[in-house]
Amino acid sequence: MFKKVVLIISGGIAAYKSLELIRLIKKTEAEVKCVATEAALEFVTPATIEHLSGEPLRISLHDRDEEIKMGHIELARWPDAIVVAPATANIISSMANGLANDLAQTLLLATTKPIYLAPAMNVRMWENPIFQGNLSLLKESGAAVIGPEEGEMACGEYGLGRMSEPSKILDNLKKKKLKALINKKILVTSGPTHEHIDEIRYITNKSSGKQGIEIARSLSEVSSDVTLVTGPVNIDLPDCCRVIRVETAMEMHEAVLNSGDYDIAIFVAAVGDWRVKNISTGKIKKTEATKPPDLELIENPDILKSVCSKRHRPELIIGFAAETDNVIKNAKKKLKKKGCDWVIANKVSKDTHNMGGDNNEVFLIKEEKIIHYKKSSKREVAKIIREEIIKKFGD
Ligand SMILES: Cc1cc2nc3c(=O)[nH]c(=O)nc-3n(C[C@H](O)[C@H](O)[C@H](O)COP(=O)(O)O)c2cc1C
Repeated sequence: MFKKVVLIISGGIAAYKSLELIRLIKKTEAEVKCVATEAALEFVTPATIEHLSGEPLRISLHDRDEEIKMGHIELARWPDAIVVAPATANIISSMANGLANDLAQTLLLATTKPIYLAPAMNVRMWENPIFQGNLSLLKESGAAVIGPEEGEMACGEYGLGRMSEPSKILDNLKKKKLKALINKKILVTSGPTHEHIDEIRYITNKSSGKQGIEIARSLSEVSSDVTLVTGPVNIDLPDCCRVIRVETAMEMHEAVLNSGDYDIAIFVAAVGDWRVKNISTGKIKKTEATKPPDLELIENPDILKSVCSKRHRPELIIGFAAETDNVIKNAKKKLKKKGCDWVIANKVSKDTHNMGGDNNEVFLIKEEKIIHYKKSSKREVAKIIREEIIKKFGD
């Protein structure tokens, strides 16, 4: 965790959440000095900020007492990191264009320290292509972007634009700042799918979701933009990343293709290959007279293949292959057939307990080499995969 943090509060409704953020940063025993824009003071008061931070609040660039010693440059040099929360559309766009109209903007231009932005704004502002272009410039220059989240907004609309919770912002400050991955958009699919027979019965498999969840958790420690698309599982879902819950393979397909573009996609989910063609409404009755129902199965869409053949495919696509026989041979076939970059293969049988259990023994299959990792916990396997990804993107 950083020991000295400058928190810039800009003028959005979410400024009230920054008060909690000050408290959380202080609890880690870090020092926090706050800067507010003029607009921020329409939403929160200097007295609250100063009481929580224990430091005088800086607002004006033209504070004669401070600026006699070039206070803004001192403040730009002082911290280990600068956090802007909430980050308004205005401050993000000003920053992307190198403006220095007030103390907050000047600090952001003058600093060489890591910058974390927690955007908060109306969904239309967020989606505006001019704004998105500005944000991309900042990401390319290395600023870490935390959130925003999807949900209801103060203006009554629904969508992306809510500031991330202070606890999530703090989690990001605790992360080792790996430049290579911090802004990579990462997708992890996980868990089984349920393929309905009727309203209460379904076909599924033994996947527990443990491996996928561990991978999403582990990557959330180094990236601020991880999305987990999960089928129905009976374990706790992480709160460190965006979670999209689905039930069927069709829903997972739709969620993966419509939840955005990703730089890295890891397909851990055990997706049902087939679904029942005609799902009965209600419950199929078992009566003396009828024989068991004939279930006609049809193929589900191949999610991995769909993503591999996208025009703007992720830079790195990793597929998982659970095999009962010929693990390596089948996994190599999968690598070629689907067009993914790596396959993580494991042997699944009632003896290995890999599927559903707490441990896993995997082979990482790349076109040029195969690496075997001995049996270890799913958390450990997640770390190994993370290290391989970090190696690829270099840091
Ligand atoms: C009630 C109200 C709420 C606002 N909420 C936001 C917001 O959540 N996000 C945002 O980007 N701008 C918001 N604005 C607009 C900004 O306050 C405005 O762009 C301002 O110039 C930002 O200045 P700053 O970036 O220097 O703080 C809001 C304005 C008002 C009047």
